Amino acid sequence: MKLLITGGAGFIGSNFVHYWLNNYPNDDIVNLDKLTYAGNLETLKDLENNPHHQFIHGDICDTELVNRVIEDVDIVVHFAAESHVDRSILDPTPFVKTNVEGTLVLLDAALKNGKKRFHHISTDEVFGALSLDQNEKFDDNTPYNPHSPYAASKAGSDHLVRAYYDTYQLPVTISNCTNNYGPHHFPEKFIPLTITNLMEGKKIPVYGDGLYVRDWLYVEDHCAAVDLILQKGKIGKTYLIGGMNEGISNIEVVKKILKLLNKSEDSIEYVKDRPGHDRRYAIDWSTIHEELGWSPKYSFDEALEKTVKWFIENEEWWKRVKSGAYLEYYNKQYSQ
Ligand code: NAD
Ligand code: TYD
Repeated sequence: MKLLITGGAGFIGSNFVHYWLNNYPNDDIVNLDKLTYAGNLETLKDLENNPHHQFIHGDICDTELVNRVIEDVDIVVHFAAESHVDRSILDPTPFVKTNVEGTLVLLDAALKNGKKRFHHISTDEVFGALSLDQNEKFDDNTPYNPHSPYAASKAGSDHLVRAYYDTYQLPVTISNCTNNYGPHHFPEKFIPLTITNLMEGKKIPVYGDGLYVRDWLYVEDHCAAVDLILQKGKIGKTYLIGGMNEGISNIEVVKKILKLLNKSEDSIEYVKDRPGHDRRYAIDWSTIHEELGWSPKYSFDEALEKTVKWFIENEEWWKRVKSGAYLEYYNKQYSQ
């Protein structure tokens, strides 16, 4: 089988590429990535000589290129996106371009090249925010109510994917998952930012009162869920994927990381809140559990420890990412 993975040089996409080739070593992957600031070829360095992995440097908004690379693939798994809420607040334009227009280009190419099976990776942020004083979770019936430009652009892309199923019978599935964490997580996001700032002796910027709650999902568990959806998911259906039964506040996450790194709470710095900050996210993942037999393999404590250990052991990776020096690697690699 041949898969087109978009955004496979980013955090979740690269974990998925590795997951897939470990589990299905005879399948072929075409990995299409624009290598924005978030894409990193160093993450794929171990696959350089693997004949089952082909990297293509390109933009999902490039219709001609997308139609060419999609031609002989069996499945599209679409991760590529602008993914950081704070950046979307500073400048929403690239979010609409890549997340909405890029998804449309891919859907159209999937349709015109023989109705390819299409799996779209999305987020729980499309559902808006839950309050702290209720136990409610996002479930299969929760209406869309995105707040940030990032969430709004992902919501737009989800609607397009469903429209291609309803209108043209493109065989699609969608998954909306909670906040991922794990190896190769770009250190602008909260967990890797906290770990790497502490390792550099810097403060941890905690937005607002730090009582915002997230439902953290270990990236390997996410990959396993997408695998099951590709194998057994019902065409046209959306699956919700979450990592925990109870969420955890940002400040509690920080305290766990401080403990794992043996650092004091003096490193915590409360800073100005994010505008429109969603108070709580939580996903009811009972459908994917009951229908496809998926549940997260890792507890938060267990996988957080693994993640901290990974950042300790891969200081070179994140230091280069933080300094932007991986661009040099790219220029060197593609200088011919
Ligand atoms: P990321 O920012 O780490 O990686 C995104 C990748 O997409 C990068 O490699 C980047 O170069 C590539 N890319 C961006 N624009 C592109 C374009 N126009 N053409 C081709 N490639 C392009 O993101 P991530 O955290 O790995 O997220 C992957 C997907 O999962 C996204 O669709 C995101 O919305 C979704 N998601 C992420 C989380 C999370 O916690 N990180 C949670 C829920 C859903
Ligand atoms: P983030 O990793 O940006 O993911 P998302 O906004 O998609 O949930 O942020 C996770 C939580 O951490 C969110 O409540 C915002 C908060 N946060 C901070 O408190 N400080 C920071 O420096 C960052 C980046 C996030």
